[in-house]
Amino acid sequence: MNYKLIELQKVDLNIKYNNVLLIYPIHSQDIPKNLHNLLKNIKCNKMIAIATYGRIEHGNSLFKLRYKFNLPLIGACYFQTKHSYVKNDNFEPNYNCLIPLINKFNDKDLKIIDIKKSKSTVGYNIFPKLRAQLSIKIVLDKNKCISCNTCGINCLNNAIKNGKINNKCIRCLACIYNCPKHALDFKISKILKAYFKKQRNGQIEFYY
Ligand SMILES: Cc1cc2nc3c(=O)[nH]c(=O)nc-3n(C[C@H](O)[C@H](O)[C@H](O)COP(=O)(O)O)c2cc1C
Ligand code: SF4
Ligand code: SF4
Repeated sequence: MNYKLIELQKVDLNIKYNNVLLIYPIHSQDIPKNLHNLLKNIKCNKMIAIATYGRIEHGNSLFKLRYKFNLPLIGACYFQTKHSYVKNDNFEPNYNCLIPLINKFNDKDLKIIDIKKSKSTVGYNIFPKLRAQLSIKIVLDKNKCISCNTCGINCLNNAIKNGKINNKCIRCLACIYNCPKHALDFKISKILKAYFKKQRNGQIEFYY
């Protein structure tokens, strides 16, 4: 769509963008914490937000995005996609249905949207990091690791160095997908496995 793709950590907070299409993953039914600084400081004329989520519970993150941060939000949606914890996930989201939303950037008549409050699971915000750490185990194959620290460079949470993880880890799995030697892998708990057996609802909620 001719948009320049910028990784969240590389967004320049000193300039004013025109159209910003913000795409972020829902983590523990919320906005990932390491996005807050960007949301507080980004400057732009118009923003459309796509909150991707993996299963059934997207929580209330777009409502928070709209009312906690001062953003010129002209459109938004909860978009169900593959879950990073499901290996070989063959779910194929319908990306085309996002086109009318993104085309809102071309509208002359700009209106900041309202977002309705959605339900969150009780207790979703209690120690989410600890819950993730208990449910997902990251394993390092020392025979494959070449101590290049690509994992550390790609970790937004300063939680890994040369394959060794500390307790700042939120289990986003970025280190695993960026390891050039496939030395990192993950295992999920039985409870999480059972949760992933639940059917997806495939629902996409638009606001514009
Ligand atoms: C730490 C973490 C927490 C997550 N929590 C949720 C959740 O509460 N509900 C949900 O539906 N998906 C959840 N997901 C799945 C992500 O939203 C999904 O993987 C993401 O939207 C797809 O983008 P990705 O490839 O960047 O992970 C979580 C993923 C991670 C890594
Ligand atoms: S990126 Fe992979 S190979 Fe490099 S240090 Fe990390 S785990 Fe080891
Ligand atoms: S999963 Fe890897 S990249 Fe993500 S926070 Fe933990 S160490 Fe960092």
